[in-house]
Amino acid sequence: MKVTVSRKAHFNAAHRLYREDWSMAKNDAVFGKCNNPNYHGHNYELIASVTGSVDPVTGFVIDVKVLKDLIKIHVEDAFDHKNLNLDVKDFKDINPTAENIAIAIHNRLLPHISTGLELSITLYETPRNFVTYDGKS
Ligand code: NI
Repeated sequence: MKVTVSRKAHFNAAHRLYREDWSMAKNDAVFGKCNNPNYHGHNYELIASVTGSVDPVTGFVIDVKVLKDLIKIHVEDAFDHKNLNLDVKDFKDINPTAENIAIAIHNRLLPHISTGLELSITLYETPRNFVTYDGKS
């Protein structure tokens, strides 16, 4: 029997979406307001979900306190109140879109999750816009 355990978290961060090799007009056309040269912020909401078998001894898939602490250390402390383009090495060469942020969060957490457990990241950039990455493809 597999069960999914989820933990919500939150961080505020600034970003800009643009390509240096494109004109300002093309960047505006593709990225809209997210191409503001002076950056802008989002209130990101994160759901980290871990799926696996229930341990017969503890009754846990993962201790949710452990998951909480992993998110705090590897995501919140790294991203909260940061400029994702300038301050976070994950986005040195890629745009900090919701898609790429979800992948980066997955990459940061997965090494700390026990083998055999599956990790899925859902990231809300706005209350209506969100992406999900489960690392499978
Ligand atoms: Ni934006």
